[in-house]
Amino acid sequence: MDLTAAEWLNAIVRLAHVIFGIGWIGASFYFMWLDANMARPAAPKAGVEGELWMVHSGGFYRVEKIHVSPAEMPPHLHWFKWEAAFTGITGFMMLCLVFYADASVYLIDPAKYDFTPVQAVFVGIVTLLFGWAAYEGLWRSPFGKKGGWPPLVATFLMIAGIAWFLCQIFSGRGAFLHVGGLMGIIMSASVWTVIVPGQQQLIQATREGRKGDPVYAAAAKQRSVHNNYMTLPVVFIMVSGHYPSTFGHQLNWLVLILVSLTAMAVNHFLNMHNKGEMKPWPLLLATAIFVPLFWLTAQTGGSVGLKPGEAPVEFAEVRAVVAQRCTTCHSARPTDDTFKQPPNGLVLDTPQQVRRNAQKIAARVVLTQTMPPANKTEMTDEERALLGAWIAQGSKVD
Ligand code: HEC
Repeated sequence: MDLTAAEWLNAIVRLAHVIFGIGWIGASFYFMWLDANMARPAAPKAGVEGELWMVHSGGFYRVEKIHVSPAEMPPHLHWFKWEAAFTGITGFMMLCLVFYADASVYLIDPAKYDFTPVQAVFVGIVTLLFGWAAYEGLWRSPFGKKGGWPPLVATFLMIAGIAWFLCQIFSGRGAFLHVGGLMGIIMSASVWTVIVPGQQQLIQATREGRKGDPVYAAAAKQRSVHNNYMTLPVVFIMVSGHYPSTFGHQLNWLVLILVSLTAMAVNHFLNMHNKGEMKPWPLLLATAIFVPLFWLTAQTGGSVGLKPGEAPVEFAEVRAVVAQRCTTCHSARPTDDTFKQPPNGLVLDTPQQVRRNAQKIAARVVLTQTMPPANKTEMTDEERALLGAWIAQGSKVD
């Protein structure tokens, strides 16, 4: 595809994904908050369970949560379901545009597993479908329906296991995005397979003057709670491309699990806070998980580090390595077959440009080894160590 067209397509789909996601998650946060803040009306009103006054954008709003009787069933109800569907659809489109269209750059890491692009895409999609089916199967089984902690722990372990597996075979970013994609599929599919049908039967029951079946309500509630606790981990994963010390870590699967646990503990604090319960323990728990997580990401693990070494490094050597391994892409005029513009605007043509970006180079080339992508230019460990020593010695360009 024409490069300009590809870039605009990427931008439009990404923007749509973000906006639909805000609409969906924003509405679900808003309803969580509404539910927690509804108060019984001062003077009892027929059918009104709770009410709430708000002021926003130039007006007062009063929301009532009501028990609807068949006669009152309104002709039009707002549903809040398309946001979930379109967030899912545009998310899958992004996965295709970035990770599947350029699998050899973003998804495949030959040091982990030397897939062909077609194989990698196949394994990615099969893993997503498998993970989703396993989740649905678990929560539709008697084990899941019984509720309580065991199915929650089983779900967590299942997703953690898939995260571990993906991190063994794909690039860090590719693996992370597939885990986020799996949770996104689970969340948006739950809206359509359980939550919306639950609401439909509630409407039907109201029309017929019956009480809704509590089994549907319980299942819908269960899925809503799952979605709520998956939200922060998913959003983190979606922006994790900015944080190479997470996806680029040798134990990136463990980093991902710890980040998710921290995020869920913070989420729990927010949920309790919404209900007016200010308990510090979820924040303490989040801190207790975050401290070892921080420590872990500070360990680079590999043999290559930011070590000054014995001999002073000549900049000429550094320059030669950068010219051979980096400027095929990171140049004002790239020669790479895929990248016709310097990725992320990073240009390493002059000594000053290399020097100014020394810390970024340290992060991506030495500490996490997430550059060059899929080690396309076949950089050696000695060359990484050379750059590390040069940076540790103060990145001098003499
Ligand atoms: C095949 C093309 C290619 C080669 C070769 C390559 N890079 Fe990159 N680089 C990219 C792409 C694509 C991105 C943006 C995606 C990402 O961050 O992973 C990037 C991003 C970066 C970033 C992050 C920039 C920022 O502002 O976030 C740094 C730093 C970087 N590269 C350094 C290097 C260095 C140093 C080398 C040589 C050792 C190198 N790259 C070789 C394609 C390449």
